[in-house]
Amino acid sequence: MDKFLIKGPCKVKGTVNISGSKNASLPILAATILFDEPVEIKNLPNVKDIDTMLALIKSLGFGVKINKKKNSVLIKKTKNINTFASYSLVKTMRAGILVLGPLVSKFKKAKTSLPGGCLIGARPINYHLNALKKLGMNYRIEKGYVHAFVKSKLNGSCITFPKISVGATENAILAATLANGKTTLKNCAIEPEIKKDLTNFLNKAGARIRWIGKRTVEINGVKKLKKISYSVMGDRIECGTFCVAAAISQGNLKIKGFDPKLINTELNLLKKVGAKIKIDQNLISIIGPKKIKNIKFIKTKEYDGFPTDLQAQFMTLLCKATGKSIISESIFENRFMHVAELRRLGAKIIIKKNNAIIFGGTNFQGAELMSSDLRASVALVLATIVANGKSVINRIYHLDRGYEKIEKKLRSIGVNIKRLS
Ligand code: EPZ
Repeated sequence: MDKFLIKGPCKVKGTVNISGSKNASLPILAATILFDEPVEIKNLPNVKDIDTMLALIKSLGFGVKINKKKNSVLIKKTKNINTFASYSLVKTMRAGILVLGPLVSKFKKAKTSLPGGCLIGARPINYHLNALKKLGMNYRIEKGYVHAFVKSKLNGSCITFPKISVGATENAILAATLANGKTTLKNCAIEPEIKKDLTNFLNKAGARIRWIGKRTVEINGVKKLKKISYSVMGDRIECGTFCVAAAISQGNLKIKGFDPKLINTELNLLKKVGAKIKIDQNLISIIGPKKIKNIKFIKTKEYDGFPTDLQAQFMTLLCKATGKSIISESIFENRFMHVAELRRLGAKIIIKKNNAIIFGGTNFQGAELMSSDLRASVALVLATIVANGKSVINRIYHLDRGYEKIEKKLRSIGVNIKRLS
C-alpha cells in the first residue's frame, strides 16, 4: 500500500491548476446511460472514483473509450446493454447508486447493489428510492440488491425531499429527464455540481430542466437526448483544500481553473482567519496570515453553507489559530476520524457529540499517521506540510480516490513530499 513521506515545515508558493470536479463528473457519467448517441466528457479528473464509475458503465455494456492524457472519455451505447450494477463495483463507491435512476428510466429495469454503510456515516438511500418510486419505479430489496422495474415508462410527479440530499436530487433529476410529462422536485440540493453542471450538461443535450426557485427544479421529460461533448467544471473541494494549504503555511498561491464566486462562504471564512484574498475570473490569489485568527463557531451545511467536505481541512487550519474554535458537523454522524490522527501530531481537540472544540496554538510535530477517508486524509497532508520534521501517512489510496496528482501538484508549489510504493 502506498504511503506519503512529508518533511515539514513547508510554505506553499506558486501556481496550481484545479482539476475537473469528481462530484460533478460522477452524476454526469451516470447520465450517459440515458443517451442513444455518443457522449464525450472532458476535463475528467484522473482519480480512482472516476475509474470505478467508468468500469461500472462499461460493465453495463457501454463502449467506454478513455483518453487519460486528454482527461476525456467517449461513451457509446451498444446493442448489448445489461442492467446489472454489481456489488463489487458499487461497494467501493457509493455514487454507483446513481445508475439506478437512469437505468430504470431508459431500460425499464435494473438490479443495483445497495451501497452499504461507510466510515463517515450510515448513508442510507431511502430518499433515492422514495423519489424514484414516486416517478413510478417498483422495487424490492433482496440479498443486498435493489431489483427495480417500471411497466411502461416513468411518469412525472411532484416530489418534496424530506431532507436535502445531493445524491437523491441527482438520481431524481436523471430519472425525470426522459420521463413522461412534468416533474417538480422541491427541497433539492443545490450544490454547483447539480444546479450548474449536471443541469447545463443535460440541457445542452436537449433536456428541459429549469430551476424555478432556490431549491425547486422543474423537469419536462423529453423523448431523447442528443450527441454532446461537454467539459466538466473544476473541483470545488480541491480548490478549497489548496486555499487552506496557503492559509495554514503563510503561503502565497495562485489557484487557477475554478470560479471563485462558487466558494464565497469558504473564502469569507479564510478572510476571517486573516488570509489576504484577491479574486478574478477563474483565479484566486491567496496569501496566508502570519497569525491565524480563530473562528468562534462554524457549522457544516448544505450548499451554499460551509461544506462538510472541507470540515477536516478547516479543523486542521484552526488547530494553528490563536484561541478556541468550534466546528459543528451537521451532515454526517461520524466525520471526525481525522481528530485522533491530528492529536498524534499534537492537536488539542475535544469532541462533544457533533461538535469539535479546537484549542488553537498547536505547533504540529511530525509523526506516522493513518488515512481513513478522502477528506480526513487530505487534512493530515495539510497538517504534516506545516509540522516540524518527518511524517509518514499510510493508506493514501483514500486520497487517490479524489485528488488528481496530489503529490505532483504539492511538489510543484514547494512541498517536500514523496510517494513510497
Ligand atoms: C455527496 O454525497 C458527496 N458525494 C459527498 O462527497 C458529500 O460529502 C455529500 O454529498 C454532502 O455534501 C458525491 O457527490 C459523489 P447526501 P451523498 O445524500 O450524495 C443522508 C467526498 O468526500 N441521506 O447529500 O451521499 C445521509 O446519510 C464526499 O467527496 C439519507 O438519510 O450525500 C447524510 O447524512 C463524501 N438518505 C445526508 O443525508 C438518503 O437517501 C446528506 O447526504 C440520502 C442521504
